[in-house]
Amino acid sequence: MRDSAPVRHRRIGVIPGDGIGPEIVAATLSVLEVLTTRMATPFALDVVEIDAGADTYRRTGEACSPEDLRRVREDVEATLKGPVGLPEVRTPDGVEAGVLGGVLRTGLDTYANVRPVRLLPGVDSALSPSRARSPGGWRGQGRAGPADSAIDYVLVRENTEGLYASRGKGVGNRWAVSDTLLTTREGSLRVARRAFELAARRSGAPADGVRRVTCVDKSNVLRSHALFREMVTEAAAGYPDVELEYRYADAAAQDLVLRPGHFDVLVTENFLGDVLSDLGGATVGGIGLCPAGNIGDGPAYFEPVHGSAPELAGQERANPVGQLLAAGMLLDHLGHDDAARRLEETVASVLDTGGVRVAADGTVPGGARAVADAVIAALRV
Ligand code: IPM
Ligand code: MN
Repeated sequence: MRDSAPVRHRRIGVIPGDGIGPEIVAATLSVLEVLTTRMATPFALDVVEIDAGADTYRRTGEACSPEDLRRVREDVEATLKGPVGLPEVRTPDGVEAGVLGGVLRTGLDTYANVRPVRLLPGVDSALSPSRARSPGGWRGQGRAGPADSAIDYVLVRENTEGLYASRGKGVGNRWAVSDTLLTTREGSLRVARRAFELAARRSGAPADGVRRVTCVDKSNVLRSHALFREMVTEAAAGYPDVELEYRYADAAAQDLVLRPGHFDVLVTENFLGDVLSDLGGATVGGIGLCPAGNIGDGPAYFEPVHGSAPELAGQERANPVGQLLAAGMLLDHLGHDDAARRLEETVASVLDTGGVRVAADGTVPGGARAVADAVIAALRV
C-alpha cells in the first residue's frame, strides 16, 4: 500500500468580531473542520486568531493593533472576518469605532469588494410574492419575463476610494460639513479589470447567458462618475468576450428589482455599491444570507455583508449563512474550489430541505449552532 500524501495545511486568519460574530464564526469553523476532511483531497486549515473590532477598540483604544494587522498581511493566506461594530463604541468625534473599513479595506488595499447575490433554492425572494400574485400582470406588459427573475449576479463594489475615501475624514465646522468623492484613473481601472475577469470566468446572465459587465454610475451628474465610466470602458477593451453596458444607478436600482436575471457582473463606485448590495440582498432572502470578499492584489479577507446585531448575541437566533458562504468564498480564493462548491451546495440543500428555516426577521431558531449541526450532518451523508 502506498503512503497517502501529506495533508496540505493552509493558514487562515480569523476575526471573531462583535455581537453575534463569535457565535457565527465558531459555527462556521466547526463546519470547515468537517468539510476539509470530507474532500477527495483532504486539507487542513490552521487558524491564527486576530483581535479586531469594536470590543478591541474599547479594550485597547485601537480597532486592530499594528501587530494584528501585520499578521493579516504577512502570516496568513487569507482571513475570515466576522461582523464588527457596537453602536455604543464610538470615536471622540462620534462615528462608530471598530468597523475596520479604514483599517482593513484601505490598509490592505483590497480594492474590490466582491458581493455575489444569488437566490438559493428554498429561499423566498421578496420579489416573488408579487410576481406570483400577478400572472400576466406587469410581466405581461412586456416589462420583464420569467427568466428575468432568476437572480445570480455579482456586484463588484470599488472598495478603497469613491465617496468613502472620505471615511472619517470629512471637513467641516458647526455650520457645514463636506465629504469628498475621490475617483482615480488607476483605482477605477483595476476594479474594472477585476469585474471583467470575474465575468470571463462565469457563465453569463441567467436571462440570456451573455457574459456581461454593467457599469453602474451617475455619470450624467457627477464628473467623478464620468471618469469611472471612462475607465471601465477602457478596461473593457482587454475582454472582447464580455459585453459592456452602462446603467445610471437609479435605473440600475429599478432593474435589479424588475429584471435581476439580466445581470451577470456589476461594477460600481463604493457608496453606490454599499447601497445596491443591500438592495440585492433583500431580493435573495436578506443580507443575512449574503457573503462578501475584500480582494486586492495582496491579502484578502471574507466576511458576511450584515452587521454584528448585538441585540441578538447569545440568544441562539443568529443566522450564520452569510458567514458560511463567506468561508466558501475564502476556500475558492485559496484554490479549493471543489470544497467551496461543496460548502455552498450543502448550505443550499439544508435551506432547501427545511433542515433550517430562516424566519421572516432573518433569524433562525436554534441559532448558528443549529445551522452548523444541520450542515455537518448533511456533509456526513
Ligand atoms: C458594508 C458596511 C460598512 C460599509 C459599514 C459597516 C462601514 O455597511 O460593508 O457594507 O459601509 O462599508
Ligand atoms: Mn453596507
